[in-house]
Amino acid sequence: MQREAHWTCKLYMPQYRGTPGPKRGSGWVGEWGWGGYGGLLPSGRLGFSSLLVLQDKWEQIVGQDSTLEIFQHITLMTLDTIMKCAFSHEGSVQLDRKYKSYIQAVEDLNDLVFSRVRNIFHQNDIIYRVSSNGCRANSACKLAHDHTDQVIKSRRSQLQDEEELEKLKKKRRLDFLDILLFARMENGKGLSDKDLRAEVDTFMFEGHDTTASGISWIFYALATNPEHQQRCRKEIQSLLGDGASITWNDLDKMPYTTMCIKEALRIYPPVPGVSRELSSPVTFPDGRSLPKGIHVMLSFYGLHHNPNVWQNPEVFDPSRFAPGSSRHSHSFLPFSGGARNCIGKQFAMNELKVAVALTLLRFELLPDPTRVPIPIPRIVLKSKNGIHLHLKKLQ
Ligand code: HEM
Repeated sequence: MQREAHWTCKLYMPQYRGTPGPKRGSGWVGEWGWGGYGGLLPSGRLGFSSLLVLQDKWEQIVGQDSTLEIFQHITLMTLDTIMKCAFSHEGSVQLDRKYKSYIQAVEDLNDLVFSRVRNIFHQNDIIYRVSSNGCRANSACKLAHDHTDQVIKSRRSQLQDEEELEKLKKKRRLDFLDILLFARMENGKGLSDKDLRAEVDTFMFEGHDTTASGISWIFYALATNPEHQQRCRKEIQSLLGDGASITWNDLDKMPYTTMCIKEALRIYPPVPGVSRELSSPVTFPDGRSLPKGIHVMLSFYGLHHNPNVWQNPEVFDPSRFAPGSSRHSHSFLPFSGGARNCIGKQFAMNELKVAVALTLLRFELLPDPTRVPIPIPRIVLKSKNGIHLHLKKLQ
C-alpha cells in the first residue's frame, strides 16, 4: 500500500503534489536527536518554557473567569514547542500574534480536506480548483507554505553567521531543520527547496496539531474522570514535588499517568484515521477483495471504539494498559502501525507526559457540563464546539 501523501496541501491541491519525500530508514530523518520539550538542559533536566508560558496565561485568565476553551491555547503551545525543538526557533510563538494566521490556515485545511472527501464533484482536480472551497484551500496552502518558507529562510540566514555556526558545532545533537539543511543525498547534492519544504511542512503540521489534539482530549478525559485525575496528581506529586524541574528519567516513572494518557489516546485518537491507495489487490479471509488502485480509509477511531476489540469501549478504564495486560498487537494504533507509523511517537509521548504532569500540579481540571465537546473527525480529532474546561488553581 502507498501512503497517499504527507501533507494536506499535496493531497488536496494537486499543484502541490510533489515528491513524497525521502523513504524512512534513509538515515538522516531518523537521526534527528529529539531535542526535548523546549530543549534539553544540562544535567538531563527538560526545558519546558512553552508550557510555562501557557500556564502563566491560564493563571491570569482563571483569576477572572475559570472556564476556558483550551484547544486553541494548547495549539499555540505545541506549535511553540515544535518550533523550538525542531526548527531552532528563538522567541515565543505564543506571544507573537503573527503565528495565529498559520494556525488558522491549518484549521481551514483540516475542514477543507474533510469536506472535499465528501463531495463527489470535488474529486475532480479541475472542478475543485475553480470551486470556492478550492480557492480557500489554495490560499490556506499558500499561507502555510509562506510560514514554512520563512522558517527555512530565517534559519539559513542565521547559519551564514560564523558565531552561529560555531554554536552549532558544539551541539550534541542537531535540530531537525539543521539536519535537513546540511543533508547530502547520494549524489552529493543538498535537498532541493521543494523537498526541503515538503519535509518541514510535514513535521510542522504533524509535530503540533496532533499533540495539541492529544493534550486537549487527555485533559478533557481527566476532567471527566476526577478519581483518575487525582491518582495521577498524587503519583506526580510524590515524583516531582512542586514540579520545579523534570528529567528524562522522571518520564519513565509515572506508570499510572502513562496508563491514563494511553486510555485517553484510545478513546480520543488524535489521528482518527488514515488513507491509503492500494498498490496491489487485498483479499480478506472471507474471500472478499479490494482491487488495486482504489483509495481506502482505515479508521483508528472505529477500531478503538469497536466492542469486538475492546470491552465497554466507551468507558474510561486505564487498567486496560496496566503492565502485563494483554491485547492484540494492532488493537491500539494512535500512532498507526507498520512501516509508515509515526516517526514522532517518542517525542509526542514525552510531550504529553510533561504537559499532563506539570499541569496537574498547578491546576485541577473540571468539565463544563453546559458545553460537552462533540468529537469531529478531521485530519486530527477536533471538537465541533471546542473543549471547554473549568480550571481551578491549586495552592
Ligand atoms: C499525539 C501525537 C501524535 C499522533 C497521535 C501521531 C500519529 C501519527 C499517525 C497515525 C501517523 C501515520 C499517518 C499515516 O500513515 O498516514 C503519523 C505519521 C507521522 N508523524 Fe505523527 N503523531 C503524533 C505526533 C507527531 C510528532 C510530535 C511528530 C514530529 C515531531 C510527528 C511526525 C510524524 C511524521 C513525520 C509522520 C510521517 C511518517 C512517515 O510517513 O514515514 N508526529 N503520526
